Amino acid sequence: MLFYEKDVTFPNELSTALEVALAENGQTFSAREINRLGDTLSRLWPELAEKRGIAEQNHYSHRKEFAATYAAYYLPANLLKWACVLDEVQFVAPLANESTKICDFGCGPGTVYWGAAWWHWKMNRKLEFVGIDQSHQFSGLAPNLAQSLERSLGAQAGTLRARWIDRKLTLESILETVKTERPTMVTFSNALAEIAPKIEDREKIVLALLKTLSVLTDQDSLERKLILLEPASISASRELLELRARLIAHEGVHVELPCLNNRPCGALAREGDWCHEEIAVRFPEWMNQIGKQAGLKKENLLFSYLVLGQKAQTGRLARLPRVVSHRFVEKGLTKCWICTETGKRQIRLLNSRKNEKNESFEGIRRGDLIEELTLSEKSDVQSLLLFRDLDEVADHNAIVPS
Ligand SMILES: C[S@@+](CC[C@H](N)C(=O)[O-])C[C@H]1O[C@@H](n2cnc3c(N)ncnc32)[C@H](O)[C@@H]1O
Repeated sequence: MLFYEKDVTFPNELSTALEVALAENGQTFSAREINRLGDTLSRLWPELAEKRGIAEQNHYSHRKEFAATYAAYYLPANLLKWACVLDEVQFVAPLANESTKICDFGCGPGTVYWGAAWWHWKMNRKLEFVGIDQSHQFSGLAPNLAQSLERSLGAQAGTLRARWIDRKLTLESILETVKTERPTMVTFSNALAEIAPKIEDREKIVLALLKTLSVLTDQDSLERKLILLEPASISASRELLELRARLIAHEGVHVELPCLNNRPCGALAREGDWCHEEIAVRFPEWMNQIGKQAGLKKENLLFSYLVLGQKAQTGRLARLPRVVSHRFVEKGLTKCWICTETGKRQIRLLNSRKNEKNESFEGIRRGDLIEELTLSEKSDVQSLLLFRDLDEVADHNAIVPS
């Protein structure tokens, strides 16, 4: 992503609000609670990572101890992804409306609400949120968690509002909810693949949603977006890319991020390749301890995402190549992968060829947009201008503190 050069520190307000809401003494987790949460996490992890949350019976979301553990570990692990995505959206394809109304499908304990509330609070914008999930356990936990967050932020009445609906989601119930609630943003966070295990069904849901959102926009002229976020694993990320490829074959589907327009996916062209985001984060110590007890470690926000808007991206940004890997430093050279309108390619800089026209390559990072690039036949970088080095970009304030 564009704005995350240094490690992000998990905001204190959020860490405190979570502990206050979840700890037995209403303040901080005891060592016994951390151990218990860690033990449960070691049983929850295979349900999510190996089974990918798909189970006909005895779904983890209906079990009280799993729901509480999800809230203590995965909610903090995931929520900042949403603040980062909103930062990026705001810069590349801004939300035209003054306030946002989100319908979040498969909301769990309210992960999207936490990330979006934090972002809207920082940006001084209003947020109305409707979270929908099949799990009674999650819809029981979510309002308490949300209240703790609003208290910790000291949010003024009416600026952050959340409602929670207990509902089994199908194509029909999703569309019905959107028609009734008229959100300006529809989100699925680690949820679409659970709600619709078959890719054809995911395609149907997204296409029908885009159509419904466009009807709403015709009626009230409010701009709308649909955002999908999935894990960064190769399989989850590739499925999202496959879904993207199916979607862009249809009229009226407009990709805004991460790839800036409907260009064919460079990663999909090579078997086993994928596309993901990676942002280093210092998580709260209590969360690290819960993870440690379960043999897990989180030091990064790792995810794949797709932002769909309502009109084709035709501005200057839309055609720019984007860096889609980290920098590989090898003996005598540095290289990275970029995604262009004609596919993915590797570019490199030999240490012996470094000069003032190409030296910014040394600091290049995943998500960078490339304003100007001259390459030799062997893909050696001869000159490079990064978009973030332009004057107009320098003033942009990333919302997540670094
Ligand atoms: C992995 S969790 C994601 C929770 C949250 N969005 C996040 O990113 O942390 C997936 C959620 O989708 C919900 N879910 C799965 N299938 C569903 C369905 N058919 N109807 C409603 N909710 C569903 C589960 O109950 C669970 O809360």
